[in-house]
Formats: sequence, C-alpha cells, structure tokens
Amino acid sequence: MKIAVIPGDGIGVDVTAEAVKVLELLNKKSLLNLQLVHFDYGAEKYLKTGISLPKEQLDDFRSNYAAIFLGALGDPRIPDMTHARDILFGMRFGLDQYVNLRPVKLFDERLCPLKGKTVDDVNFVVFRENTEGLYVGTGGFFKKGTPDEVAIQESVNTYKGVERIIRYAFEYSKARGLTKVTMSDKSNALRYEGDLWQRVYKQVGEEYPSIEKEHWYVDALAMQMIKRPEQFQAIVTNNMFGDIITDIGAQLQGGLGMAASGNINPNGVCMFEPVHGSAPKYAGKNVANPFGAILTAGLMLEHLGFKKQANLVEQAVRQAIKENKTTSDTGGNLGTAEAGSALCKLLETLCTD
Ligand code: NAD
Ligand code: IPM
Ligand code: MN
Repeated sequence: MKIAVIPGDGIGVDVTAEAVKVLELLNKKSLLNLQLVHFDYGAEKYLKTGISLPKEQLDDFRSNYAAIFLGALGDPRIPDMTHARDILFGMRFGLDQYVNLRPVKLFDERLCPLKGKTVDDVNFVVFRENTEGLYVGTGGFFKKGTPDEVAIQESVNTYKGVERIIRYAFEYSKARGLTKVTMSDKSNALRYEGDLWQRVYKQVGEEYPSIEKEHWYVDALAMQMIKRPEQFQAIVTNNMFGDIITDIGAQLQGGLGMAASGNINPNGVCMFEPVHGSAPKYAGKNVANPFGAILTAGLMLEHLGFKKQANLVEQAVRQAIKENKTTSDTGGNLGTAEAGSALCKLLETLCTD
C-alpha cells in the first residue's frame, strides 16, 4: 500500500515527522507494509515555483495511493492562504472527500478543562460535511475598495450533499452500536439551508428506527458541548459549523494538539490530517504536540482496515499521557521529537507483548 505524505507548512512538518516514525516502527515490526511517499507541497514550493497542487497530482493520488497523510498548511508569507486552499480544498473537493470525520475523545481526564468529567463523558464523533456550504467559494465583490463595497459569500447546500453526510453519520453509528445521532444547524435563522437539512435529517432518520434523533441549534450545541458533553455520541452538521465545533471539541480532549481527523470518500482515496493548523509561531521549535498527528495516523490505519495496529497506537498515546511523556501543552516537558520517540518506545513494548 502506498501512502502519500505531505508535511506541509509550519508545525505540520514537525508533527508529521513523528507520525511517520510511528508508521515506520509498525512497518519494522512487520505489523504493516506501507510505502510512504513524501511530497513537498506547501508554502515554500508555492513561493518558489507558483505550484500549489497540480491536477495531475490529484489524478495520481486517486489512482495510485491508498491514503494521503497531511500535516498542516498555512504560512504568514501567504496571508490570503491561496496555496493552502488550493491544496486542502483541492483534495477535499477534488477527491470528493465528503465526510470530515473528527472524533472527540478524551484520553485522560487530567487533560479535560471541564470540572469532574471523565474519559467516558467525552467520547463522540463529529461528522462535518466537507464539500459544500460556505466553503464552495461562490460569491463575489461589487464596488470593491469603495465605501459602497459589497462582499457576497454563498452557502451552497445540495440535496445530494446533505443526504450523503447524514446517511454516513447514521450508517457509521449503526455499524458501531451508537444509539443516537444529533443534527445541528441554524434553521431558526437560515431558512433555506435549514429547511433542507431538517427535511433530509427527518427523512433519512426514518430509515434508522433504532437510532434516537436529536436536534440542537448550533449556538445551543456549542453550549451543550461544554455543559454536558456526555450526552453526545454522533453529531452531524455542515461545513462551517463543523469547523467551529471541532475546535471546541479539540479543547475538550486537551487542546488542538490532541485532535485527529479524516477526510473520507467512502468510495475513494481519503486524506488524514490533525485538526490543528500550522501554528507558525511554534514552527520548527520542537514544541508542537505530535499526538494529534499520531492519532490521525491511527485513524488512517483503522480506516485502511488495520484495526489492531490502530488500537496499539491509541494505547501508546494513552500510556504516554499517563506517564507524562508529553509536550508542554499537555503537562509534560518533552519536545516534539522526544515525545514522538517516547511514544514509539511504548508502542514497541506493546507490539511485542
Ligand atoms: P493553529 O491550529 O495553527 O494554532 C492555534 C493555536 O493552537 C496555537 O497557537 C497553539 O497554541 C495551539 N496548537 C495548535 N496545534 C498545536 C500542537 N500540535 N501542539 C501544541 N499546540 C498547538 O490555528 P491558527 O493559529 O488559527 O492558524 C495558523 C495557520 O494554520 C493559519 O494559516 C490557518 O489558516 C492554518 N490552519 C490550517 C489547517 C489545516 O491545514 N488543516 C487547520 C487550521 C488552521
Ligand atoms: C480545518 C481548518 C481549515 C477549514 C482551514 C485551514 C481552511 O480550519 O481543517 O479545520 O476551515 O476547514
Ligand atoms: Mn478548523
């Protein structure tokens, strides 16, 4: 199996190196046989050559790779994020990865900022629609640069797009024995997209009689995620709301450095990336937490069918946190590389047990 590895920008480079160490260790232990192929797409290449992500590269990913691993994108030298949008949305949209799967899973209660919450209280999955909504890039300016300027950003919601993400959330939940799927929108204010989401959720939901349905407006959902996170098992929502609530979710797990995500096309090649960005101020400083990226590698393995290996990675992360072998954001005193190596050591022991 070939895996494309794109470290990208900033701390994306630092954390990807650690996720790669983990995958290579599993290769060495003969628990995997992945061929990791590195690509230098990112700010540096874009500034030097003007190339962000060529169309032929997408075709190559589509035909020749089992999955893509991405670190992060974003560089202060490209303030409008052109290269990052080209690369990130190029893959999400171009490879039709319509599910942004973002588990919110607390590994140790010490990491949770909420009083008295345990690992059982923070354990749900967010299904963020990943190809539509406010992200499609339609709209425009009128009278730009004048006092009469108008900027329009349109939210595009198709029946097909809404149906397939809601169905995926129900199917995933059914397959894993989850008993409730929560849908979140803002249908009290956003009439048209809200109406479509409400109708489709009800219609698709009827096909899953054994799964409880629940709805929260997204503002109230944000509040409930803090107040009673234990009520959630699966949350399905649109692209924009999903982006925002998964940063809240990341904090419930110990911060952005702990959160994993997958961009899933159930019938095609998927891309896996931590939820965090390139955190430019920490780039190259050996301080970023690599566990979000490592858990992302775990999520990728699970998706590729390597359930046992994915479990080992999770166990190693849990153990590393328990032993305080972490970076400073999660209470330890290790650097990025040292935390990655410490985790590999724990993983090696788990592999031979
Ligand atoms: P960010 O996630 O890069 O960082 C925000 C803050 O979160 C950091 O300052 C840091 O305190 C903390 N943090 C994030 N990751 C961490 C880690 N691994 N370890 C420890 N702490 C961590 O978000 P931002 O500052 O809003 O964005 C920086 C750049 O990244 C921007 O260009 C943004 O557009 C981009 N971005 C890219 C992605 C992506 O590639 N998928 C995601 C989010 C943001
Ligand atoms: C994320 C990021 C991206 C998004 C940005 C960098 C465009 O915040 O993956 O969560 O909004 O999807
Ligand atoms: Mn985000």
